Amino acid sequence: SSVSTKLVIGNWKMHGGLRSNEVLLNALVDGMKSMPPGLKVGVCVPFPYLAQANALLAGSRVEWGVQDLSSHHEGAYTGEVSAVMAADFGTRYAIVGHSERREYHREGAILVAEKAERALEAGLTPIVCVGETAEEREYAFTERVLSAQLSAVLDRLSVEQAASMVLAYEPVWAIGSGTSAGVDDVRDVHAFLRGQLAAKGEAVGRIPVLYGGSLKPENAAALFAVPNVDGGLVGGASLSADKFLPICEAGA
Ligand code: G3P
Repeated sequence: SSVSTKLVIGNWKMHGGLRSNEVLLNALVDGMKSMPPGLKVGVCVPFPYLAQANALLAGSRVEWGVQDLSSHHEGAYTGEVSAVMAADFGTRYAIVGHSERREYHREGAILVAEKAERALEAGLTPIVCVGETAEEREYAFTERVLSAQLSAVLDRLSVEQAASMVLAYEPVWAIGSGTSAGVDDVRDVHAFLRGQLAAKGEAVGRIPVLYGGSLKPENAAALFAVPNVDGGLVGGASLSADKFLPICEAGA
């Protein structure tokens, strides 16, 4: 374990069901009772399960969030869910700009920035995801890709707003691959991101920067010990308490 306590967020993606969620959420609430104070844990659930998360997690140490949001405030936007609606269910976090949204739903940098802004306006904490593809990495474009993704968000937000967000570095090539990025890569990228945040303002330079991509009980402690890594965004391993809780514990 490391010196400072971490923020660990589960991203369920399109997984779950009322019955299995109940088992998992209750196990997380129980498991968190014995964790050291300071460690912060959350789960980002599919929209239909927000009410269930609210009912089962309220008053516990586990916070909850959504995996996406509309970039619009309200109105004739069929199929969209607003930040204000999510906030109605006690939601704390909103992932925006996940690579699966950028790739499969063609979300661009400006749209992601608008979503982060909607989240902040509604009192939610946006977890802004940035990450390069394998090809971009191969051609040494990592920094310019991350910089473009992050600056679109920072340019849109005030210093006060930006200081309330969370940033997540998720190298696309590590997501769901079973193999995380190496600690050297993560150290370099997180230092780079920290520098860009700090250039926006001192308080912005202190926001949590999470790592995501094949985090598991076996590699979490090593990744959480890397400088400028303030926690993790966990996909597959967040679907079972047996895996997610040890990852949380690695951040304690
Ligand atoms: O948002 C979390 C994510 O994309 C990482 O997924 O399954 O590699 O932990 P996974």
